[in-house]
Amino acid sequence: MTQRVLTGITTTGTLHLGNYVGAVRPAIAASREPGAESFFFMADYHALIKCDEPDRIERSRLQIAATWLAAGLDTQRVVFYRQSDVPEIPELTWLLTCVTSKGQMNRAHAYKASVDANVAAGEDPDAGVTMGLYSYPILMAADILMFNAHRVPVGKDQVQHIEMARDVAQRFNHLFGKGEDFFVLPEAQVDAEMELLPGLDGRKMSKSYDNVVPLFEGGAKGLKEAIARIVTDSRLPGEPKEPEGTTLVQLFDAFATPEQRAAFRAELRAGLGWGEAKQRLFAQIDAEIGPMRERYEQLMANPERIELILQEGAAKARAIAAPLLARLREAVGLRRFQALATAAAPVAKAKSALPVFKQYREADGQFYFKLNAADGQLLLQSQGFAQGKEAGQWVARLKREGVAALAEAPVQRAEGLAEAALHEALAALMAAESA
Ligand code: TRP
Repeated sequence: MTQRVLTGITTTGTLHLGNYVGAVRPAIAASREPGAESFFFMADYHALIKCDEPDRIERSRLQIAATWLAAGLDTQRVVFYRQSDVPEIPELTWLLTCVTSKGQMNRAHAYKASVDANVAAGEDPDAGVTMGLYSYPILMAADILMFNAHRVPVGKDQVQHIEMARDVAQRFNHLFGKGEDFFVLPEAQVDAEMELLPGLDGRKMSKSYDNVVPLFEGGAKGLKEAIARIVTDSRLPGEPKEPEGTTLVQLFDAFATPEQRAAFRAELRAGLGWGEAKQRLFAQIDAEIGPMRERYEQLMANPERIELILQEGAAKARAIAAPLLARLREAVGLRRFQALATAAAPVAKAKSALPVFKQYREADGQFYFKLNAADGQLLLQSQGFAQGKEAGQWVARLKREGVAALAEAPVQRAEGLAEAALHEALAALMAAESA
């Protein structure tokens, strides 16, 4: 079975070298593997939680989209979109919000950190806490569950959110699934790589430490200047240096083959100067990043090209999201109006007039089913199935879910039959099923 892999990036800033090595590069590599179906998106609704500067939001989502594309994302293979282009996501967020316990949200790390900071500062515990921040994990659960992702590559700080998504999925399945699972339970995937790249001062590379190496910002010059600021010891050229564990060598490693890594270490041990070593590091990184930077600049100069790509991505995403959401709406009772079957018609009477499914096999060896009205009139005709079991499963689902299953079911309405008549027949069957 194909594994669905999904990840989002909050669009509040630009990406640095640590993001590239830890997230973008491995995600793109994974998306090229056979058997994986990848979903990447700009979490711009999440960005609104942290940022109320419209221009910054606009700039960041454009820059981040351009970065992914420049880094080699193949949008034919993956589904690449902006969260805010898929209205099914906030709609699902609400359905999930209604089954999420407040107590569980109280325990979310991001929210708790704000409360703790407030308390420590002697403020009201909820000072500056918006409902957006509080409900952040539910929106994230909707991101994941909307596409039934199996695996979610994230940093360690996000693992709790994935666990919350599993919980909510389970609760929803249990409450509304009637034995069927609407949602796959997602797994967090934390790669060691994600955390490792050190910043200029040797601590983890992070905006909040002001120690980042920019990815494309500032061009080749910006990269060179950042590298010049890497902290080293004071050994002079000619003196042997211990390469292991130094920031410079760790950055080098992230862009080098095993042979290049060994050669670089040997040179440092033989006395290569730090200044020279920094030039090597620059050349090594720029060999990979340089061509991407060129593509990045071209894309940034042609935002309408990116817009088009993302519109296509949104269409692909919605083609998956909309049918699932239709089933969920049906499941929670947000249904198209029809006579309330159990109240309106006594079951015994309804039964006598119920339409019937018939399963059969044709001369072509395939299995089929059809739905006939009580008087024998054809209502629905299925396509052929290789397995009888498959036909049986569709019959069961149509009985259980009625109209909600119709959009996905491989069936055709009988010629000349009004849609309303078919819907009525399915509703009657469904009512009889649940009676
Ligand atoms: N919260 C994630 C972060 O800050 C971003 C994100 C939003 C995300 N929705 C997601 C990641 C869904 C994975 C899956 O890193």
